[in-house]
Amino acid sequence: QNEKDSQFIVSSWAKDHYHKLLNDNEEGQSVGWSYLRQRGLNQTTISTFELGYSLDQWDDLLKSAAAAGFEQKYLEKTGLVVVREDDNGQDTGRRYDRFRGRVMFPIHNVSGRVIGFGARTLKPHDKTAKYLNSPESEIYHKSDVLYGLYQARQPIRSEELCYLVEGYLDVLSLHQGGIKNVVATSGTSLTEGQIRLLKRYTDNVTVLYDGDAAGIRASLRGIDMLLEGGLNVRVVLFPDGDDPDSYIRKVGDQRFREHVETASQDFIQFKTDLVSREAAQDPVKKAEAIREVLQSIAKVPDPIKRQVFLQQTSHTFGIDEQVLITEYNKLVRN
Ligand code: UTP
Ligand code: MN
Ligand code: MN
Ligand code: MN
Ligand code: MN
Repeated sequence: QNEKDSQFIVSSWAKDHYHKLLNDNEEGQSVGWSYLRQRGLNQTTISTFELGYSLDQWDDLLKSAAAAGFEQKYLEKTGLVVVREDDNGQDTGRRYDRFRGRVMFPIHNVSGRVIGFGARTLKPHDKTAKYLNSPESEIYHKSDVLYGLYQARQPIRSEELCYLVEGYLDVLSLHQGGIKNVVATSGTSLTEGQIRLLKRYTDNVTVLYDGDAAGIRASLRGIDMLLEGGLNVRVVLFPDGDDPDSYIRKVGDQRFREHVETASQDFIQFKTDLVSREAAQDPVKKAEAIREVLQSIAKVPDPIKRQVFLQQTSHTFGIDEQVLITEYNKLVRN
């Protein structure tokens, strides 16, 4: 049994421990379960994703792990336990549980093994971070993980499509609403590793990020990377202030599906509309906007699709197609 195996084993044990606390412990029931119920999640979803609860204590996991015979160093290596250091960064010998009084979201790899946790506070999160996540470890590399992929991998294959969302709750609510081909980036911008992972399952991605066009604007770079990876990318906007979770809770499964179908737009078309709207009639801004779109088109590996996108762009901006293609060729040569 090597180092990594020990880390997998302690993570799986911790997942079971948190899951039992949620279901069988009084605090878990009254605090954890009632929160999840209030968020609209049911028993099936909670079991499928193996959700849990960490007691609001400094050493529950430490003590329970010791009682179960685990070596403390594996709790430290997986970040379940924090090493308390003094002001000079020296180990004080003291240890405490990282996750306390939080709803626990185990993060699985594609084989279903637990490699880390996300954890949501139930307190007003002005003092403490809303979500705490496991630190990087030998078994947890944040940039190579998509939350929910283990549960979504078969549905992604059969639907030949993956919905990409930002948060844990978005994955859970959509899955519960019958949309099971959904994974989350967990708030960070997309990485090469995540895109490589996605491509093992499908070529089609629909991005369901939080909120309005302004929200998505911040994510344009990450979405461009999906194009570069050769994926077909569509985007769906939600009313300002909503994320997929709040929206499906508001309108119900059926209307959510309808919205996703009718509001979904090809990414290049979306970006073209967005930047052309922003540029309005200003010729300098408009030229800049066109170059921005051409940059995205240049990322599409398929020459036929590139051709179609160039035609569309010439329409949207009212620019002669030959002029646009000349501009495009200049751009890709540089
Ligand atoms: P959001 O702020 O959109 O949270 O962050 P959310 O998922 O909608 O959460 P609720 O609905 O308030 O419970 C999206 C994702 O970004 C990561 C988490 O993965 C979260 O689900 N995140 C967010 C963090 O890692 N840390 C944070 O402090 C906040
Ligand atoms: Mn946020
Ligand atoms: Mn957000
Ligand atoms: Mn959100
Ligand atoms: Mn949310």
